[in-house]
Amino acid sequence: MTATLIDGNALSKTLRAAVAVRAAKLTAAGHQPGLAVVLVGANPASEVYVRNKVKACNDHGIHSSFDRYPADLAETALLARIDELNRDPRIDGILVQLPLPPHIDSHKVIEAIAPGKDVDGFHVANAGALMTGMPLFQPCTPYGVMKMLDAYEIPLAGAEAVVIGRSNIVGKPMALMLLEAGATVTICHSKTRDLAAHTRRADIVVAATGRRNVLTADMVKPGATVIDVGMNRDDAGKLCGDVDFAGVSTVAGHVTPVPGGVGPMTITMLLVNTVEAAERGHG
Ligand code: GUN
Repeated sequence: MTATLIDGNALSKTLRAAVAVRAAKLTAAGHQPGLAVVLVGANPASEVYVRNKVKACNDHGIHSSFDRYPADLAETALLARIDELNRDPRIDGILVQLPLPPHIDSHKVIEAIAPGKDVDGFHVANAGALMTGMPLFQPCTPYGVMKMLDAYEIPLAGAEAVVIGRSNIVGKPMALMLLEAGATVTICHSKTRDLAAHTRRADIVVAATGRRNVLTADMVKPGATVIDVGMNRDDAGKLCGDVDFAGVSTVAGHVTPVPGGVGPMTITMLLVNTVEAAERGHG
């Protein structure tokens, strides 16, 4: 291994300590920040993510409510609950864990969340604000990646960046954030003809596909920064990312591990967004 490890746990610790101070200040002034987490169904990965989000809130002075609904919850019932949370003055942020069961229109649900409480940054108003360079809430995973690149002083202006994946949660907002920072950005995806031709030119590669070994050592320019957003299981059931970590870390200049890379940063930025929502207030 020659690459420098980008330590998401260590950076999270620093950022979370600052969040806890801001939360305590708000609480002392009479309003403890609050996050409402909503989970529909029993997707095992979602259960773990949601449990970690609620625990992180509780550990840093943010109160949380947790609504768990069965997979057959009616869409109208979910929309009614969101309406309640929108009007609840104790709640500053609302997070509906995705994916939702297929009978529920996730676009409709996201658009029902008040943009000022949309700490995921998924509402069209927040997506539009990001696109036009006036971000309010930025999606937590790409926002966390930007913090990592900043902390490790990875130059972005003029850099060639390749994002693999085009989801609304990671790929698209990641590309916009890198673009805003002055990178020349290419978005690759499952229909891309020659992925390696793109990644071999890149100074920064962000892999966010949900598929193992999407990026191998032969696809990476020596010294490049490789960010692994993937959360997969290998054949032995062990947590792994989208990147062949063992191989890539012999070529890259910087690389994020899985676990201990982007994962903790996603939760950290959720805490940041929630405290920011509380500081802004919502009338
Ligand atoms: N599912 C996977 N990632 C996320 C996320 O960041 N927020 C929500 N709400 N659901 C997700």
